[in-house]
Amino acid sequence: TRLEVELERLVEQVHETRRPHVEKEFKGFKNLFRRFLAEQGPSVTWEKIQKLPEGAVIDYSSLTTPTTDNVHRMLEKLVVVKLNGGLGTSMGCKGPKSVIQVRNDLTFLDLTVQQIEHLNKIYKCNVPLVLMNSFNTDEDTQKVIRKYQGLKLEIYTFNQSCHPRVNRESLLPVPQHTDVHADIESWYPPGHGDFYESFHNSGLLQKFIGEGRTYCFISNIDNLGATVDLNILNLLLNPDPQKPISEFVMEVTDKTRADVKGGTLIQYEDKLRLLEIAQVPKEHVDDFKSVSQFKFFNTNNLWAKLDAIKRVVDQGSLNMEIIVNNKHLADGLNVIQLETAVGAAMKCFEGGIGVNVPRSRFLPVKKTSDLLLVMSNLYSLSHGSLVMSPQRMFPSTPLVKLGDNHFAKVKEFLNRFATIPDLIELDHLTVSGDVTFGRGVSLKGTVIIIANHGDRIDIPSGAVLENKIVSGNLRI
Ligand code: UTP
Repeated sequence: TRLEVELERLVEQVHETRRPHVEKEFKGFKNLFRRFLAEQGPSVTWEKIQKLPEGAVIDYSSLTTPTTDNVHRMLEKLVVVKLNGGLGTSMGCKGPKSVIQVRNDLTFLDLTVQQIEHLNKIYKCNVPLVLMNSFNTDEDTQKVIRKYQGLKLEIYTFNQSCHPRVNRESLLPVPQHTDVHADIESWYPPGHGDFYESFHNSGLLQKFIGEGRTYCFISNIDNLGATVDLNILNLLLNPDPQKPISEFVMEVTDKTRADVKGGTLIQYEDKLRLLEIAQVPKEHVDDFKSVSQFKFFNTNNLWAKLDAIKRVVDQGSLNMEIIVNNKHLADGLNVIQLETAVGAAMKCFEGGIGVNVPRSRFLPVKKTSDLLLVMSNLYSLSHGSLVMSPQRMFPSTPLVKLGDNHFAKVKEFLNRFATIPDLIELDHLTVSGDVTFGRGVSLKGTVIIIANHGDRIDIPSGAVLENKIVSGNLRI
């Protein structure tokens, strides 16, 4: 095909020493593309979705806590993987998302490193931290991790693949040459589902298996609740002898109306699998969003058996659903990029189960409104982990909406708060327009602050707003 001819032309430009590597990446790309062409139409038949069988999702509270003596031995079997291929663009930051400061000047990466360092210290073990970088994040990440060199923590990195974006009309690759950094818009990292193959290709999978390690814990680096959980590790390493070994665990949590778009866990063709909203036929989107029909959503905290990863990659039996992401480049070109999600591999493993974990294990920072929560007195920091304040009456976090025009970028957001307000008793906050907050402001109950176009509202230092609507010169 013409696509193949074009790819061949790109490969020929690459220096001989790098050619095998690029060829391998292109092979992965061609596989995805071939499947994309062959598999048009919905990837699930709605009527074939089965009822979740008994025991498919275990309640976290039913898990056993291992004894301290056992923990050291258990942790010797574990590898922690953080997905670190993404940029901070959606929060208005340049560079990897993981280098954004989230609390006390510490970044996502700093917090992750502190967590694992602490774990290793307490249990006298040596759990390695593995970062999956992309060509977008690798250079900056390498600079940052140099500062951890003195710490007692093994940090490994590998790069996920780099795929060419495809012209939506011609279906031909966009890049004209393979100098990725000279033409970065023409390439993309193909989603976190790329983890399995890239981890295998990097040689790290084999290395950890050789060391006698058996499971990895994979999570989004921007999920501050994704700490190593010893009860889940115990479930995997000391399983009920009556039950099959679980090669894969997906941590799910109760879906609320605020997270109806998250992927859910379904039983399909007698196996558990992830169902993403992009796969749902139009006429069933409302069913998908229903919190009673699909009670759980995927936190993307996943546990996978290392030798099983090796098996599915070696056999080529990974067939994660393709997510087609349409993009509009700066020069006006419409492109598509084919991606996969790491949780979509669940169906390719044996004995997959869900664990219904407390909401506290899902604390993602996607927007500045999430940042407001994690910077506030709702949490305190303990060895890199955020702990909800005991002063909070309910364990749920407040619902916060900050206006896109004035608060979306981290820098703007920070400039608008002299100090982060007291949020202990806050239920709901909506802020829109040109609004600033003085020092020591307290927000309680439901607070709505709306500055109309051309107006500005400065909340004075020390103000206590409880169940208040503040709008222009109208104060209720
Ligand atoms: P996203 O920021 O894209 O997450 O990546 P999302 O919007 O919650 O959507 P999901 O989780 O994809 O459904 C989540 C994590 O995956 C990493 C990011 O760095 C982030 O930690 N990621 C994403 C990669 O490592 N590679 C990718 O190609 C995409």
